[in-house]
Amino acid sequence: MGDLVLLWVAVGMCSATFRASAWSVNNFLITGPKAYLTYTTSVALGAQSGIEECKFQFAWERWNCPENALQLSTHNRLRSATRETSFIHAISSAGVMHTITKNCSMGDFENCGCDESKNGKTGGHGWIWGGCSDNVEFGERISKLFVDSLEKGKDARALMNLHNNRAGRLAVKATMRRTCKCHGISGSCSIQTCWLQLADFREMGDYLKAKYDRALKIEMDKRRLRAGNSAEGHWAPTEAFLPSAEAELVFLEESPDYCTRNSSLGVQGTEGRECLQHSHNTSRRERRSCGRLCSECGLQVEERRTEATSSCNCKFHWCCTVKCDQCRHVVNRYYCTRSPGTAQSWAKGSAW
Ligand SMILES: *[C@@H]1O[C@H](CO)[C@@H](O)[C@H](O)[C@H]1NC(C)=O
Ligand SMILES: *[C@@H]1O[C@H](CO)[C@@H](O)[C@H](O)[C@H]1NC(C)=O
Ligand SMILES: *[C@@H]1O[C@H](CO)[C@@H](O)[C@H](O)[C@H]1NC(C)=O
Repeated sequence: MGDLVLLWVAVGMCSATFRASAWSVNNFLITGPKAYLTYTTSVALGAQSGIEECKFQFAWERWNCPENALQLSTHNRLRSATRETSFIHAISSAGVMHTITKNCSMGDFENCGCDESKNGKTGGHGWIWGGCSDNVEFGERISKLFVDSLEKGKDARALMNLHNNRAGRLAVKATMRRTCKCHGISGSCSIQTCWLQLADFREMGDYLKAKYDRALKIEMDKRRLRAGNSAEGHWAPTEAFLPSAEAELVFLEESPDYCTRNSSLGVQGTEGRECLQHSHNTSRRERRSCGRLCSECGLQVEERRTEATSSCNCKFHWCCTVKCDQCRHVVNRYYCTRSPGTAQSWAKGSAW
């Protein structure tokens, strides 16, 4: 395991100390143009926001974006070429591009700013370009430079990773939208100025999760794939690499079912995981999580009743304090377990 593994684990753990040094362990940065050191902190923050988004998107899935999956290079041969890997690449590369682009618009870097190249030109009926359009080209360049340079191999896996890095960057562009401001006499909106703005990163995450769901498999000769990081990884372009598929996520290997622990694959398994049932305000996918994580993996759903306390019956006293009672209430949580065990166990828990 090399420096990159270290980097990705560090990013996942969100510590404050790694940031400055993490990307400089990459040879490229030590030997490469000094200027790029300017961006390392922001690049690491961007990658971190990608990882956080990955954890959010997969929180109630069997594979939940674990730390050990967060490496962005092929130099560990053990790493897989599954659709999960494709998501990690796309979201990380998008995260870096998103953060750097925002930084430009905020004026955080001397050498980039808003994209004002079209300002003053007519954009369409009743509107002209104006204001601060996010400068995605700059963000794209920095993301490509940093994230793609982690890819040292030349084989199929490397090509797959580079493709997915790029798909992530294309997603940032694809989700941009026009935002407008009205002008004209007393807000009549007879003329508008508009600019292009990045989507919220959450929206990016949703978009890429949908891409993940319909990712394309590239059929390959198994023996070649196993040869790993070797020169014989030449391969013919397949449909998945045709221009029409450039924005899609691609993968080479089917995923394991992620149900059972398999340390050689780095799979944790779902035993002990929490799932959601009967919760208010959950998406259909979340409500199905107990089935997906437990039952479909041959595990039982165990209900644990947890006592929680929270403030309640708050009263306002003149003047000026608020007094509340502490109410205790029972919260049911659900976990995947192997044995039926005691159906209901009591545990002291903390407040929501
Ligand atoms: C870039 O933006 C992030 C927040 O999105 C901020 O924390 C970071 O400090 C910015 N980088 C620079 C160089 O200002
Ligand atoms: C782990 O996965 C590998 C590769 O699929 C398989 O050969 C092995 O039998 C698995 N080990 C366990 C304990 O399931
Ligand atoms: C339910 O969730 C949505 C978004 O996930 C949120 O906008 C809404 O306020 C939530 N409603 C309640 C009652 O919590």
